[in-house]
Amino acid sequence: MEPTTFVLFGATGDLAKRKIYPALYNLFLDGKLPPSFALIGLGRRELSDETFRGNVERSIRTFSRRKVQDDAAAVERFLDAFRYCVLDVGRKDDYRKLLDMIESREQELRLTPNRLFYLSVGPEFFEPIAANIQESGLGSADGWKRLVIEKPFGRDLPSARDLNRKLNQAFAEHEIFRIDHYLGKPMVQKLEALPRSHPAFQALWTGRRIASVQITAAETVGVEERAGYYDHSGAIRDMFQNHMLQLLMMLAAHLPAGQADEKAGVRKKKAVQALRPLTKEEAKAHVVRGQYAAGTVQGTPVVGYTAEPGIDAESANDTFIAARLLLDDPFWRGVPFYIRTGKRMSGKSTRIVVEFERLPGQPLPTAEDEGAAHDLLVVDIGPEEGITLRSKANDPRRSAASEPIRIDLQANPDDVPEAYENLIGDALRGDATFFAHWDEVEWSWAWVQPILEAFADNLVPLRLYAAGSEGPAESDALLAENGHRWWSDS
Ligand code: BG6
Repeated sequence: MEPTTFVLFGATGDLAKRKIYPALYNLFLDGKLPPSFALIGLGRRELSDETFRGNVERSIRTFSRRKVQDDAAAVERFLDAFRYCVLDVGRKDDYRKLLDMIESREQELRLTPNRLFYLSVGPEFFEPIAANIQESGLGSADGWKRLVIEKPFGRDLPSARDLNRKLNQAFAEHEIFRIDHYLGKPMVQKLEALPRSHPAFQALWTGRRIASVQITAAETVGVEERAGYYDHSGAIRDMFQNHMLQLLMMLAAHLPAGQADEKAGVRKKKAVQALRPLTKEEAKAHVVRGQYAAGTVQGTPVVGYTAEPGIDAESANDTFIAARLLLDDPFWRGVPFYIRTGKRMSGKSTRIVVEFERLPGQPLPTAEDEGAAHDLLVVDIGPEEGITLRSKANDPRRSAASEPIRIDLQANPDDVPEAYENLIGDALRGDATFFAHWDEVEWSWAWVQPILEAFADNLVPLRLYAAGSEGPAESDALLAENGHRWWSDS
């Protein structure tokens, strides 16, 4: 791996502490950091290098996936790469000071000037930082440069386009790594290859055999301490436009014969482009917008959304979205994709369920089957991981009734790498496969834009649901219209 200077904006922030340092430490343990590696942490606060390294050590001791052993020498070697520099993102002088510091580290360690700028800061700082990197010459050395940013990438289609245009003045598309942490989850990384992974799947994986696809990301937490952000974002911007549509793309991207070398990004783009657009007026028929009311989540009574600290008592913000999407693509034509995501639901689970049509000659469902097909491929993405095939079969020796059968194709592996480990490792290697490319982001916003407008004009009614439930009843009704139901715990 090439020598790298990792320049971290927001080095004293929460994300750095909980995710970035632990990820770097685990990459270090696995020998996946470049052998010549320097990290410069940036923040507004004055800190000595010693205090900074002490903070990083505390972070890895608290949050690392692999426990920090008493191997003081290894921890010492890891921390040795870390330096700190005070920087006010709006002060041009500070960037010149940073350039001096980077250059002297590069000389000291004889590093090729490859620089990765990681912006672990609020989105309002993306543009000014990128512009200052450009103006100060930080990005014009002889090596490569990369920019890593997190969502939110804009708050609607026009603002996302505007942000991208401004970032492109300093960084080309191939230099921008947009993190969507769902793409770093190990099970998500397997999705695209799943249909090709076994002859049985290849046989099943035709549009004619697939009745529907459901994607759920349910959470038990409420708005937490993020009222200021969340009340202006809602589930549609916070989860749907990015994580949920990325999951859809990962699953729907498929490989037409003879195009095995087509890049994942190209196939994902085709999937999102195939989404049948909704108009603002049509949104109501295909989208359910919900907000949690008071209730009980896993035995604990909780307040409703509008009674949460910092939330406007009149807020009509969405904490739940369910939607039916169709793809105009020869493979997926006629197969509805159902997506739902919500806060304060009954359990924490991210799961994809592919429901198959019944085969000719298969016994008709009985009353206990609730009249629905039960042939499912269930992909559990988190917090549990696993892939199972579920069905019902008759065992004539025992009874005439059908019994559930379940085939575990992959049990829950222990000790899988964290999403951030995968993604930071990829960014260091320059592999953008599991990042959100601009086309995908732009097409996702384009699909969501009429829904944002329908919400703003109150064309989609806000449905309350009790905290601890499966969401509003209208979300079940949406599937029932096509003879389907959500599969939560089968
Ligand atoms: C984040 C959202 O992107 O994803 C949060 O901003 C949400 O609101 C989180 O809680 C969920 O991530 P995970 O990995 O716990 O499913």
